[in-house]
Amino acid sequence: MQNILLTGGTGYIAAHTAITLIEQGHNPILLDNFVNSSPKIVPRIAEICGKTPSLIELDILDTQSLTQVMRTHNIHAVIHFAALKAVGESVARPLAYYHNNVVGLLSVLNAMQAAKVAHIVLSSSATVYSEDAKPPFVEDAPLAANSPYGQTKVMMERIINDIAHTDPNLRFAMLRYFNPVGAHPSGLIGEHPNGIPNNLMPYIQQVAIGQRDYLSVWGNDYGTTDGTGERDYIHVMDLADGHVLALAHLLKGEPSFTVNLGSGEPVSVLQLVRTFEMVTGQTIPYKIAPRRAGDVAVLLANPQRAKDLLGFSTKRTTADMCADAWRWQKNNPNGFSS
Ligand code: NAD
Ligand code: UD1
Repeated sequence: MQNILLTGGTGYIAAHTAITLIEQGHNPILLDNFVNSSPKIVPRIAEICGKTPSLIELDILDTQSLTQVMRTHNIHAVIHFAALKAVGESVARPLAYYHNNVVGLLSVLNAMQAAKVAHIVLSSSATVYSEDAKPPFVEDAPLAANSPYGQTKVMMERIINDIAHTDPNLRFAMLRYFNPVGAHPSGLIGEHPNGIPNNLMPYIQQVAIGQRDYLSVWGNDYGTTDGTGERDYIHVMDLADGHVLALAHLLKGEPSFTVNLGSGEPVSVLQLVRTFEMVTGQTIPYKIAPRRAGDVAVLLANPQRAKDLLGFSTKRTTADMCADAWRWQKNNPNGFSS
């Protein structure tokens, strides 16, 4: 059984990944400063998989303590989820984002070097692709982000690539997530954004539960099937599977790699709304509103490399994403405080 350190371990994607790691015989150790999550998720993870993962409260910026954690827990690999991730907030607070995400990564890499930990899996994002890239995006498409948050992800990828060039011991998996949504099918854990959700699925969930009156559909004049934005939604449990496959590939001694994790299937805003209504029986009132600044018409993965390299392909449908997101929302209208 290998000890895997999950930075940002009580966050949305990390917690779902921890479950799959436990089910596949790994020993995930969760590390978080709770800036955007709650330790209350840990007993829920235990309820789902019958094992309580270790939890360490720490800021990744504390390199010395991080090194100590890696040494005392005999860490074999790091999955580095910890980051601030709100695009709009990153425009308002760029210094906080560059500091937490970029300096945070440097701290993690320094600790890994000191503790002789050689494997890192990084949470990257579809946001790294340039607006000049043509969807579906292949991994070699040009990169350029249009927000400080996106820039931190481009920089984080670059830093790891550069270090791996000179440090033959360091091996990495860069995972570019498309649009993660949904929740564990138990309904015990899921995403609970602070304040008004920016992202589509959490907003739909809150309309369905009656916390918001209606959904604003940001634009219906794009060159897409029905004029609304098309995205590549991926069920968070499929994403969790992708992490375990990526980790296994690295631990087998294979070379470092960068892959998209998406389905390759476009789903429009209105298609997601209709699927949610059909699956849950809830009505989602909506109004067409002007385009959101910075939005693109289509974000879509070419998922071929992940399939060839890792044998990864998505298994859960859009209907599964909606059903699971709704079960979580209905059972936990106020997240972990309900
Ligand atoms: P999340 O906010 O739920 O999880 C991030 C976790 O990191 C939180 O628990 C937070 O408390 C923790 N954290 C942040 N800064 C920290 C620090 N300095 N020290 C310790 N812990 C810290 O977000 P998520 O959706 O689970 O995202 C996980 C990763 O995936 C992030 O790197 C994010 O940028 C990336 N990502 C997310 C999406 C998405 O749509 N959710 C898409 C692409 C990439
Ligand atoms: C988000 C991130 C982006 C990241 C991507 C994939 C933001 C602002 N951007 O963008 O950095 O790369 O996920 O992880 O968070 N929509 C509405 N009404 C709403 C909310 C959204 O119509 O209330 C529409 C959007 O215009 C878009 C689609 O729904 O067409 C999806 O939006 P969202 O969930 O925010 O994801 P991205 O735009 O892909």
